[in-house]
Amino acid sequence: MPHLAEEIRARPVTAAEAARTGEIVIVAIPERAIMDLPKDLFEGVPSDVVVIDTGNYYPARDHRIAAIDDGQIDSEWVAEQLGRPVVKAFNNIEAASLLEKSRPEGAAGRIALPVAGDPPAGRAKLMRLVENLGFDAVDTGGLADSWRQQPGTPPYVQDFDEPRLRDALAAADRSRISEYRRASNEAASAYFQQRLKPRPPGESRASDRG
Ligand SMILES: NC(=O)c1ccc[n+]([C@@H]2O[C@H](COP(=O)([O-])OP(=O)(O)OC[C@H]3O[C@@H](n4cnc5c(N)ncnc54)[C@H](OP(=O)(O)O)[C@@H]3O)[C@@H](O)[C@H]2O)c1
Repeated sequence: MPHLAEEIRARPVTAAEAARTGEIVIVAIPERAIMDLPKDLFEGVPSDVVVIDTGNYYPARDHRIAAIDDGQIDSEWVAEQLGRPVVKAFNNIEAASLLEKSRPEGAAGRIALPVAGDPPAGRAKLMRLVENLGFDAVDTGGLADSWRQQPGTPPYVQDFDEPRLRDALAAADRSRISEYRRASNEAASAYFQQRLKPRPPGESRASDRG
């Protein structure tokens, strides 16, 4: 962690400190690990601080999360665990694309990213962040609509530009959420099995894909 922090010029802090550091807090840990976070993580954090959920539920990595398997939307489960509204963003782009494929506003083929969550003011703040990072932000509504950008859906990690992203979001079919998840989980399971092998002491969990 100290090496990574140095490389990306970040300052490592505890989760409680991170929740109190700025106007946007990004939660980017494996879905199941959300349950390990302190229950009072956001206690006293002003309500205009926006919490981003970048998470994706993969049973091959996260084991079974019964509430989601029973039909709860991934990010609604996260918001419930955190006791705090979240905006779902950046879950739909792989780390390498995020790092390498930003483009100036108006550039041909600029990647578009969906942003879903409540309240609308938080979503608007996040959309400005997405644009400032070099991607087109597409408002996909409240958190209840965030299933359209979950693993395996037509727009998931496709690096689409805005027109193609909008078409793919519109093509997502709510009745197929479990089917989408099953297919993307199967596709990723060998990768997660490899990653979940016991690691030598001190080795990081850091990865390079969704
Ligand atoms: N990677 C991608 O390309 C990508 C893209 C889109 C969305 N996502 C989603 O974003 C989320 C994070 O993905 P990731 O690839 O960044 O995961 P990751 O590399 O496996 O883990 C990210 C961080 O989570 C920390 N962590 C793991 N278990 C924890 C726990 N129980 N309590 C506190 N912190 C814990 C790790 O800490 P240590 O380093 O100290 O182990 C690591 O710093 C996932 O839901 C993933 O599906 C990932």
